[in-house]
Amino acid sequence: MVQIIEIETNRLILRQWKDSDFKPFSYINSDKRVMEFFPSTLSRTESDTLAELCQSLMAERGWGIWALEEKASKKFVGFTGLHIPTDDLPFSPCVEIAWRLSADFWGQGLATEAATEALRVGFENLHLKEIVSFTARNNVKSLAVMARLKMVKDHQDFEHPSLPLEHPLRVHTVFRLSQSEWKANQ
Ligand SMILES: CC(C)(COP(=O)(O)OP(=O)(O)OC[C@H]1O[C@@H](n2cnc3c(N)ncnc32)[C@H](O)[C@@H]1OP(=O)(O)O)[C@@H](O)C(=O)NCCC(=O)NCCS
Repeated sequence: MVQIIEIETNRLILRQWKDSDFKPFSYINSDKRVMEFFPSTLSRTESDTLAELCQSLMAERGWGIWALEEKASKKFVGFTGLHIPTDDLPFSPCVEIAWRLSADFWGQGLATEAATEALRVGFENLHLKEIVSFTARNNVKSLAVMARLKMVKDHQDFEHPSLPLEHPLRVHTVFRLSQSEWKANQ
């Protein structure tokens, strides 16, 4: 059986998903503020399917998109973690780092805190050579997390293949961090 990597930061636990996370996760995915840079909010069923995917990939690989729990309150905060995108992206194959937090937890540095440790797992435990992150060009908050992690912005934006040609979110910005850049930043 695969050993699941779980991580503790100052304020958070990054852990395998529990069934009790599914309900608060569905609230997050139904919030228009959270889903502003995605094609739509998610229904309860769509949200549960996504949580089940995160849970099963974590069980299979021992790493992935971790559920975030705030230590002080024990509340489910959202997710942060590493994922192998299935879409055919201009820089595939790749491992991406991604985050989605309840708006109740924005503005506290929690996404950056979680992602800092997720990068550490990626580079130290999984020995990845590079981790990328990408989002719609105008997702300022997410791009700011990438910059805070000292990821490096690609000069070239790209068109996300899963969105229709004229879709306003189709143009994405990508940031990258190599293992050597990460080591130099430590
Ligand atoms: C992207 C997202 C995770 C960013 O959340 P965030 O709260 O802005 O990011 P952080 O957790 O890193 O917090 C940084 C903010 O907390 C502030 N902060 C407060 N206390 C802090 C502390 N102790 N340490 C660090 N920062 C702190 C920072 O100053 C910064 O505020 P600013 O945005 O006003 O400059 C969030 O907006 C989100 O979930 N969006 C929806 C999902 C999404 O779009 N995901 C990306 C698509 S791939």
